Amino acid sequence: MGARTKSKLAIIGAGSVGSSLAYASLIRGSARRVALYDIDGKRASAEVLDLAHGTQFTGSSSITGGDDISVVADADVVVITAGAKQEPGQTRLDLAGTNIRILEQLLPKLVEHAPDAVYMLVTNPCDVLTVAAQQITGLPRERVFSSGTVLDTSRLRWLLAERAGVATSAVHALIVGEHGDSELPLWSQATIGPVPILDWELPDGSRFTEQQLDEIATDVRTAAYRVIEGKGATNYAIGLSGARIVEAILGDEHAILPVSTVLDGYHGVSGVALSVPSIVDRSGVRSVVEVAMSPREEQQFADSAAAVRASLDSLGL
Ligand code: 2OP
Repeated sequence: MGARTKSKLAIIGAGSVGSSLAYASLIRGSARRVALYDIDGKRASAEVLDLAHGTQFTGSSSITGGDDISVVADADVVVITAGAKQEPGQTRLDLAGTNIRILEQLLPKLVEHAPDAVYMLVTNPCDVLTVAAQQITGLPRERVFSSGTVLDTSRLRWLLAERAGVATSAVHALIVGEHGDSELPLWSQATIGPVPILDWELPDGSRFTEQQLDEIATDVRTAAYRVIEGKGATNYAIGLSGARIVEAILGDEHAILPVSTVLDGYHGVSGVALSVPSIVDRSGVRSVVEVAMSPREEQQFADSAAAVRASLDSLGL
């Protein structure tokens, strides 16, 4: 575990996402200490108790929390999950105004208590909120980013693995762009094991068609809507995704993950936060990784940037 042994993770928001992230972090040993903060102290304390009651089975991590913001003191990573969530039929971008106001309240206090932390936004619309959070805090862009399309990428890999008849870990494919309706898969770079995706022989002897890949991309893009329709929120997969990113930070892993930072000239995009493959280590997002895109992907990436830019413009950001 190395660099993670003395580490502290603070999670803001004890709703279903924050609590699931805490649960995933405890089970995976993502941080030595986990603190859960919520303005609803009764809720936060109850989640902390419930999680603490399981620590016999989760290794050496500890969990504390409540409604006193000082529980985040000296955190190495602060993950923000607090805010309004999508109701059935709402898009992520619909939540922007409300959640920016929450960040304006929260962030100055958080930075006061955890001035050296890496800040990760999970609250939606996470790309828009990353730009807002960077402006509110003035922190360098590598220390303010969002979980972005790490979750969407996991959804994509699961769908491809199921169809291809291989382990999820054998699928090398990425979703980039907005964590939302304009996201895109980088099919031109996707492989199964070392085999380009279009060359992979499926269990029935056929190959993926472009139409099938388009359907899979649509399935990924609409996945959260289906989960929200059925149970009101998504929580487990985002909890695991968040815990995985926290590990990459606290373990100083230099892992490559599609997180969202404010870009500066990446495929022509500047001043907008979008997910692209990025090297994640103890400093946060150390750097973004240049990746080739097909002409169609270039266009989709530009469209995704335009969608987030339009939302930022409408909010005066
Ligand atoms: C998700 O994709 C709703 O952004 C959340 O699960």
